[in-house]
Amino acid sequence: MNSDAVQLDVLAVFSHPDDAELSVAGTLLKLKSRGYRTGVCDMTRGELGTRGTPEIRAEEAIAARRAALDQARSDAERRSIDLTMPSRRRWTGAVHPVSAVIDEIAEIFRGLGFAIALGPEIETDWYNFLALNFPADHPAMDLHDTLYLEVPPTVDEPGAGRLLLRTHTSPVQIRVMHASEPPIRVIMPGMVYRSDAFDPSHAPAFEQIEGLAIDEGVSFVDLKATLTHFARRFFSPSTAVRFRPSFFPFTEPSAEMDVECQLCHGSGCGACKGTGWMEILGCGMVHPRVLEQGGIDAERYTGFAFGMGPARITMLRHGVPDIRLLYEGDMRFRSQFTAARSSTGGDT
Ligand code: DAH
Repeated sequence: MNSDAVQLDVLAVFSHPDDAELSVAGTLLKLKSRGYRTGVCDMTRGELGTRGTPEIRAEEAIAARRAALDQARSDAERRSIDLTMPSRRRWTGAVHPVSAVIDEIAEIFRGLGFAIALGPEIETDWYNFLALNFPADHPAMDLHDTLYLEVPPTVDEPGAGRLLLRTHTSPVQIRVMHASEPPIRVIMPGMVYRSDAFDPSHAPAFEQIEGLAIDEGVSFVDLKATLTHFARRFFSPSTAVRFRPSFFPFTEPSAEMDVECQLCHGSGCGACKGTGWMEILGCGMVHPRVLEQGGIDAERYTGFAFGMGPARITMLRHGVPDIRLLYEGDMRFRSQFTAARSSTGGDT
């Protein structure tokens, strides 16, 4: 159209009606007020690019930049980023307090040369009871105490019998004896199951750690030294321990080991029922009949065994009054064990 327009100092090119809304128009007015001759033409930008004045190209660049900035501002507003807002607290997982105690116990025994072995949670009554020298009519085998599976017993295989949820980790002793040769030093952690009510001091499913050491010449002195070392490493170097005679079918002699009450340090309190002591494990010298069921020459080898409940030990260590707290998953309780690892980092 009007080719005279290019004689003007400044031109705005509206190749599309929307361009009119760009602030180029306003800028043109400002330039005009400063004495420039301004005008509008409908040439395409391409044509203008070769023919337009430097001012026109500058105005176009300014307009494009302004449009980009406007766009960026409205994008940012849409995303509503407030960089001054405090970040949200991140949820961090943590090792369950009982698992942490199991790891710590495993680490202490690892330092004494004990390996770790695992056995099945579904066992036969042969491994769980008979191989461990329980008489066939022992009350622990009652339906009342043990959770049997409603499936036919296994037959024609070593250790066949009625299937049950193991009531203790001691059957893993037999499996380890079958699978290895002395010298044997293993701990065997795992879940065990009993037909017990869930009350402040009992859980129907809980962890145990079994221990077994077999070699030539192993004696009760080795048992006492090993378990005393363990208790002093786990609790404190000056913790007092004592062994009381007890009975288990799979050990002879058998004992229970107590540690000085961790709450009153021996003076007697409610937690230790005034005795100053807390029982932490059962132990004894492996019964020769059990060694034989495990295929080990009981004339040549002797061994000691022990079994403990890490949940009880966790309760002792942290002063937890009710075992159910460890299994209920209440975050008000559980988060007390995550504090050391919590983070205030951002969400992303
Ligand atoms: N199996 C026993 C229980 O569940 C604990 C135990 C006691 C394990 C003495 C042992 C032991 O190896 O020697 O009560």
